[in-house]
Amino acid sequence: MDDAAPPLRPDDLRAAVDWAITSRRSVRAFLPTPVAREEIEALLAVASRAPSGTNMQPWKVHVVTGEPKARLAEEIGRAFDDPEALKAHVEEYDYYPREWFPPYLDRRRAVGLALYALLGIQKGDAPRMHAQFGRNYRFFDAPVGLFFTMDRRLGQGSFLDCGAFIQGVMVAARGRGLDTCPQAAFTQFHRLVRARLGFPESDLLLCGMSLGHADPAAPENRLRTSREPVGAFTTFHG
Ligand SMILES: Cc1cc2nc3c(=O)[nH]c(=O)nc-3n(C[C@H](O)[C@H](O)[C@H](O)COP(=O)(O)O)c2cc1C
Repeated sequence: MDDAAPPLRPDDLRAAVDWAITSRRSVRAFLPTPVAREEIEALLAVASRAPSGTNMQPWKVHVVTGEPKARLAEEIGRAFDDPEALKAHVEEYDYYPREWFPPYLDRRRAVGLALYALLGIQKGDAPRMHAQFGRNYRFFDAPVGLFFTMDRRLGQGSFLDCGAFIQGVMVAARGRGLDTCPQAAFTQFHRLVRARLGFPESDLLLCGMSLGHADPAAPENRLRTSREPVGAFTTFHG
């Protein structure tokens, strides 16, 4: 595509780009409709235009479908459901803070409560909360699972670059009528993911992602999360 010539008139261009970004949301129930490999390759190629410090392009991707996805889901699911086995699985990097504090704690609680309310899960219903969380490991029934890794010897800046790439994957998916859910839930089971997918110890598992077609009838997909207004997180100088 010619960089100099946007494919749409200015108003349509703005609407399309903004729609692709703002219509992205974390989808937690997918239809079995498959996604063609060419489609996955195309959106990864688009996302790979993400910037990175000195063009290092630190991201690596593992795509799982079919049997390998089912086997991995089954294996992680078994560990997740077994309190003893679970103790052996710890995150290899802190995606979340070790100690929660406001306002982040409140936002975290709000999204959890909103999701459980849509699903009719009462506060304190540990078995149903566990089961719902466990759906992460079945990729919320999506036909495609993605895992993002990077070489752990790289600096903190590479996390930024990978984040930009991952956002690109999710936005490019919207342009193709697809939905996603980025998933830190997999980081706890990095040893199982690494062993199954055969990537080296030197590669850090950043997160997983479900990819596919959203199930429009699923109550959890009615979740609409809030955002702070621009003035709450922006300071204009001058
Ligand atoms: C890196 C990353 C990891 C996430 N991990 C999970 C996860 O493991 N399971 C899940 O259900 N949602 C996960 N989320 C989704 C967030 O809960 C979600 O982005 C947030 O609540 C805002 O909602 P939205 O994505 O629908 O706008 C993750 C999001 C990001 C960016």
